[in-house]
Amino acid sequence: MDARDFFGYKNPDEEPGRPDPDTGEGDDSRVPLFEEAVTLDDAATLSRIDPDDMLGKVAGLPRQLAQARRVAASVELPASLGDVETVVVLAMGGSAIGAELVAAAAGERLRVPLIVHRDYGLPAGAGERTLIVAASHSGETAETLSGFAVARQRGLPTAVITTGGRLASAAEEARLPLLRYRLGGQPRAAIGFGVGLVHELLSRLDLISDPDSLASAVSALEPEMERMAPSVPTDANPAKQLAWAMFGRMPIVYGHGLMSAVAHRWKTQFNENAKAWAAWEPMPEANHNAIEGSLNPRELGDAPYIVQLRDPEEPAEIAERYRVVEELLGERATNRSEVVAEGPNPLARVLTTVAYGDFVSVYLAILYQTDPTPVTLLAMLKERLARAAGSDPTGA
Ligand code: F6R
Repeated sequence: MDARDFFGYKNPDEEPGRPDPDTGEGDDSRVPLFEEAVTLDDAATLSRIDPDDMLGKVAGLPRQLAQARRVAASVELPASLGDVETVVVLAMGGSAIGAELVAAAAGERLRVPLIVHRDYGLPAGAGERTLIVAASHSGETAETLSGFAVARQRGLPTAVITTGGRLASAAEEARLPLLRYRLGGQPRAAIGFGVGLVHELLSRLDLISDPDSLASAVSALEPEMERMAPSVPTDANPAKQLAWAMFGRMPIVYGHGLMSAVAHRWKTQFNENAKAWAAWEPMPEANHNAIEGSLNPRELGDAPYIVQLRDPEEPAEIAERYRVVEELLGERATNRSEVVAEGPNPLARVLTTVAYGDFVSVYLAILYQTDPTPVTLLAMLKERLARAAGSDPTGA
């Protein structure tokens, strides 16, 4: 299928973003009329710009987590899968970040190192005592299928997380543990499954000691989701306020420890939902380079918008670093804010902060009058690569 069929246009004239010659609509050079200014507080505007309801999907996170728990509990898992020295999760993009967030939340409670492999093949050192988890929402991602194929050739212990595609068929044929969930739409909107299934899989295999309960994360999420819901007006809604603050600027998100994985999620959501440039940096590494890189080019001095994601349980030495950065940049870098994670345990704090960023990214898309759901360029890229590679999923 041609990506243009997928997105419902055939002729270059109909491509999204092209100005309509009759009405001028879509022509960025046209001065917008006052009555066209977007508000985040009008339900009709939200559903006009977000027709596939990405906002509703973001709000579905607690429900997805509860479903993920049920899916994971229903799958038979041989105990031998837990008798390993390393876990390698093969995944890309929206399917990869779930494992990164789980590893971040588990921290030192992970009994073995967890590597998220975002590439073709397997990482160096993967062997008989490596648990391979192939995770792909579509079950069709070239890089993930490639690593999965190598793991099968070598007979490595493997489990699969997907909604279907070639990955599900191959797992069924090989009788591998298959954590299969049902959810239409975009992979990045399935983050509740991405986090929940990896978390439950590793907890059941006793690879996370004393795991946080998903149920407590769900309870912590509910009030947060209510606070940021589309029906809550901007003057009482922190996610809408942050989207307004970032509007017209490039978000750069900083975080330490578990919040650095969340910063990564925020960045990818700004890219994919708001179709916006964005960056993220882990602390304290950013203190060794990024701190110096804020002077040039001077014309761009006002372009970035900084968000610091703070964990109330971050170590004292990290809090001290944030304090000194504040001292140094305080007056100069005024386009910035701090978000403090909420929740009774690390998993809950990770998830509430993920939800926060997800809402901000969709509100930002709406301010840019951009439908958050389709990822036109990403889909076209996959389509062109698949066409060039014929049917070989390894792309070889
Ligand atoms: C799109 C998205 C992407 C995909 C990635 C891998 O919403 O989030 O980052 O997750 O292209 O595709 P899947 O998840 O199908 O393996």
